Amino acid sequence: MTVKRSSAAGVCWTLLMGCVFAAHAVTFEVMDGNSTCIKADLNASFSITYNTTNAEGNGSSCGGAGVPPELLVSFGAGHALTLLFSRDGRLYRVANISLQYNLSDTSTFPQSSSTGLMTVMTNATEISARLNSTYRCVSSSTVSLSAEVNLTFSDVRMEAYMSGANLSTDESVCSADQTVTTAAPTQSPRTTAAPSPVPPPAPERGNYTLTNRNGTACLLALMGLQLNITHRSKSLNQMVSEVVNLQPNRTTASGSCGFTVATLVLTEDLTNLTFTFTLNSTTQKYYLSAVNVSAFWPDMTERFVEGNGSLNFLQCSVGRSYMCSAEQTLSIVPSFSINTFRLQLQPFNVTASRFSAGTDRRS
Ligand SMILES: *[C@@H]1O[C@H](CO)[C@@H](O)[C@H](O)[C@H]1NC(C)=O
Ligand SMILES: *[C@@H]1O[C@H](CO)[C@@H](O)[C@H](O)[C@H]1NC(C)=O
Ligand SMILES: *[C@@H]1O[C@H](CO)[C@@H](O)[C@H](O)[C@H]1NC(C)=O
Ligand SMILES: *[C@@H]1O[C@H](CO)[C@@H](O)[C@H](O)[C@H]1NC(C)=O
Ligand SMILES: *[C@@H]1O[C@H](CO)[C@@H](O)[C@H](O)[C@H]1NC(C)=O
Ligand SMILES: *[C@@H]1O[C@H](CO)[C@@H](O)[C@H](O)[C@H]1NC(C)=O
Ligand SMILES: *[C@@H]1O[C@H](CO)[C@@H](O)[C@H](O)[C@H]1NC(C)=O
Ligand SMILES: *[C@@H]1O[C@H](CO)[C@@H](O)[C@H](O)[C@H]1NC(C)=O
Ligand SMILES: *[C@@H]1O[C@H](CO)[C@@H](O)[C@H](O)[C@H]1NC(C)=O
Ligand SMILES: *[C@@H]1O[C@H](CO)[C@@H](O)[C@H](O)[C@H]1NC(C)=O
Ligand SMILES: *[C@@H]1O[C@H](CO)[C@@H](O)[C@H](O)[C@H]1NC(C)=O
Ligand SMILES: *[C@@H]1O[C@H](CO)[C@@H](O)[C@H](O)[C@H]1NC(C)=O
Repeated sequence: MTVKRSSAAGVCWTLLMGCVFAAHAVTFEVMDGNSTCIKADLNASFSITYNTTNAEGNGSSCGGAGVPPELLVSFGAGHALTLLFSRDGRLYRVANISLQYNLSDTSTFPQSSSTGLMTVMTNATEISARLNSTYRCVSSSTVSLSAEVNLTFSDVRMEAYMSGANLSTDESVCSADQTVTTAAPTQSPRTTAAPSPVPPPAPERGNYTLTNRNGTACLLALMGLQLNITHRSKSLNQMVSEVVNLQPNRTTASGSCGFTVATLVLTEDLTNLTFTFTLNSTTQKYYLSAVNVSAFWPDMTERFVEGNGSLNFLQCSVGRSYMCSAEQTLSIVPSFSINTFRLQLQPFNVTASRFSAGTDRRS
């Protein structure tokens, strides 16, 4: 039995007051010899409340002889998500979802008054699909596993009891997505002049480093950035959402490193982008606290200038680097968002010009 992870998994941890939120985007393939029995591509986030005073696929099984196939995704220090499948002659479904989390993992559950492994599960799931089809659900859906634990799935594409090595092109679309697809044809067919909503390919990953006066690196950032700006188009005279990749080889990085505030300014021909990171010295955590953009793209009727100074994204303990391999969207203002790809950054306490261990716990 082998489990291949086809794409790197990212774990981005955000700590709220006595609450943990973990988002996980992952692609999995469970194989028995040379044949594939389960493939899954999904985002799962957990919201767990705990009392106060951070993937690896392993143990998955193709089942057989009365044993159901199972997809087990373990992550961090002792946390695991398990999906158990069942089938009848026509459909397969997720019969049981269970989440095991480890309250003794103090980096994820700081100051938890309880310790040890907790397991919550439910048999009430709505995930089912026709046999030999791929279950697709881009919309997010939340399953409550207990009073304290909610699990949210999104961007799910998966198939169990597979008859081939690839996800079936026949899709069973969840009901939440169907309302989206039926809404599409209501657009006037005469809007053919509208720019095609095909997003550009994933951006190249930039390597942006700031150095202080004596030449030592003080801020490290590796990331692919895609900017999504809603503005009035000059050619169409209507509002459009334009998505543009930042090209690393045309971008220069500048800014400043401080003890509690660091800024990274990325300048491209037609775009200026400023990230401000703040260190809370009480909690010893840093976060992305502000983003400002100024852009004047060819199809804009006027310069687009926006910013938000009260953000709390990418939170991480000082002395560690923040990692998220999966695509992540940072909504800055309603008309401006940033999609990040293969992100790793460290704005404070950089030593020897290298990243410290990430919070991405791919064991
Ligand atoms: C898997 O495929 C390889 C190459 O196609 C073949 O050499 C091998 O015997 C196969 N193994 C099994 C268990 O079918
Ligand atoms: C938190 O503590 C309260 C009171 O002691 C208890 O009723 C509750 O079950 C606890 N919740 C968790 C998640 O441990
Ligand atoms: C839920 O499913 C599990 C595993 O199949 C089973 O052991 C358990 O009894 C079920 N619980 C309920 C409430 O049906
Ligand atoms: C699924 O595909 C397999 C292999 O092609 C076939 O044997 C089986 O009858 C199919 N099942 C259904 C329900 O279409
Ligand atoms: C789980 O979802 C329910 C219903 O949306 C909500 O009332 C509850 O606060 C959520 N619990 C957690 C721990 O997020
Ligand atoms: C990023 O650039 C620095 C300095 O130019 C270099 O030392 C480092 O190896 C680069 N990192 C990657 C992942 O390319
Ligand atoms: C210059 O580098 C040394 C280590 O090489 C470091 O201790 C010192 O803080 C640096 N100076 C400044 C102004 O950052
Ligand atoms: C860009 O933003 C618009 C409006 O928020 C959204 O509908 C669209 O899906 C976004 N596109 C991408 C590629 O992020
Ligand atoms: C930047 O990189 C892209 C893709 O690798 C390449 O097509 C382009 O010519 C490069 N531009 C410059 C100015 O080097
Ligand atoms: C630091 O975090 C603590 C606890 O969340 C909060 O009370 C405090 O206001 C924060 N300090 C700053 C300067 O943001
Ligand atoms: C970016 O900043 C530079 C320097 O402040 C300025 O000259 C330029 O016009 C700005 N570009 C945009 C698109 O706002
Ligand atoms: C970060 O750097 C500051 C100042 O150099 C130091 O006081 C602090 O202990 C460092 N924190 C960690 C977690 O390395």
